[in-house]
Amino acid sequence: MVHVGANPGRSGHRLSAQAARIVFDTRQGLAELFGVSDSRQIVFTSNATAGLNIALHGMLGPRDHVVTTSMEHNSVMRPLRHLARERGVRITVVAADREGRVDPAAIREALEPKTRLVAINHGSNVVGCIQPIAQIKEAIGKVPLLVDAAQTAGSYPISIERDGIDLLAFSGHKSLLGPAGTGGLYVRPELDLPPLVRGGTGSRSESDQQPDFRPDKYESGTLNTCGIAGLGAGVRFILERGVETIHNHEMNLLDVFLERLRRIEGVVLYGPSSTEARLPTVSLNVEGKSPSQVGGLLDKRHDIMVRVGLHCAPDAHRTIGTFPDGTVRFSAGALNTTDEMEQAVAAVDEIARS
Ligand SMILES: Cc1ncc(COP(=O)(O)O)c(C=O)c1O
Repeated sequence: MVHVGANPGRSGHRLSAQAARIVFDTRQGLAELFGVSDSRQIVFTSNATAGLNIALHGMLGPRDHVVTTSMEHNSVMRPLRHLARERGVRITVVAADREGRVDPAAIREALEPKTRLVAINHGSNVVGCIQPIAQIKEAIGKVPLLVDAAQTAGSYPISIERDGIDLLAFSGHKSLLGPAGTGGLYVRPELDLPPLVRGGTGSRSESDQQPDFRPDKYESGTLNTCGIAGLGAGVRFILERGVETIHNHEMNLLDVFLERLRRIEGVVLYGPSSTEARLPTVSLNVEGKSPSQVGGLLDKRHDIMVRVGLHCAPDAHRTIGTFPDGTVRFSAGALNTTDEMEQAVAAVDEIARS
């Protein structure tokens, strides 16, 4: 804001060029992180929800069929339910098991001749389980695959081109360590979906038609350059440290956390019991106390801030048996330490005894 407070792609002057460089570098960094050879296929949005809406509205036409799962966030389910009402889109929801895992064979069995899309959450924001994306793509063949990577981007290796992912939406503010209000969408070059928003792009200004080239096609209006600069710093940090290294660190934290939590009487843990194919996102309940009571005590007495309730994913809670009260959710990140995990365990222990 202080040094490069100009609009990228809107002028030829120095500061505008510098702002455009910041946006370009962030896009390049994301392409490197996600295994994409041409960064123009990644477009910036205001969050994962906006990217998911471009993908769902663009892909699903009248009476198309879509396959999704019982682990989806409302940012997928609400647009889908809307499209069912408005366009007669038919939705098949494949049930996950009690740990939140989805069987690729069940996804394949749900396909129909008019299936236009499979939309799947990569990593659960409720119980942390990872879905086997590459196997799912193999199982569904040519049917386009939309991956909601809000929870995995930056904390779990993602390889878009290797795994044949067609569309992938991500949040900037979670494990990519960017500011709130950033995110994006990858769209495979061969997919010709229309944008949701049209307007000024700084390019082809002589025409009153939306440019059909990327990223401009999907990026109308002034970008959140400051947010994208912050996202770029997060992405650089991740690339320097290595996403594998970050994931291993988080799995070590998870190991400590789960192992100690299991010893506390009255604590009920949900989701996968091992650290295999998982994120350090842990849902639990304390017998005899509501999730909001536990969350309140963690905040007020222990300075630990967690999210309680349904986490915008009611079906996921139905799947694991915690609807309608939900759970208390802990999530460790790249910058957390073993010491902090032990403090969190001690806090849960005290609450369980009280
Ligand atoms: C799995 C999942 N999908 C989508 C979203 C929506 O992300 P955003 O807030 O960036 O739109 C979230 C956010 O909590 C999420 O956890």
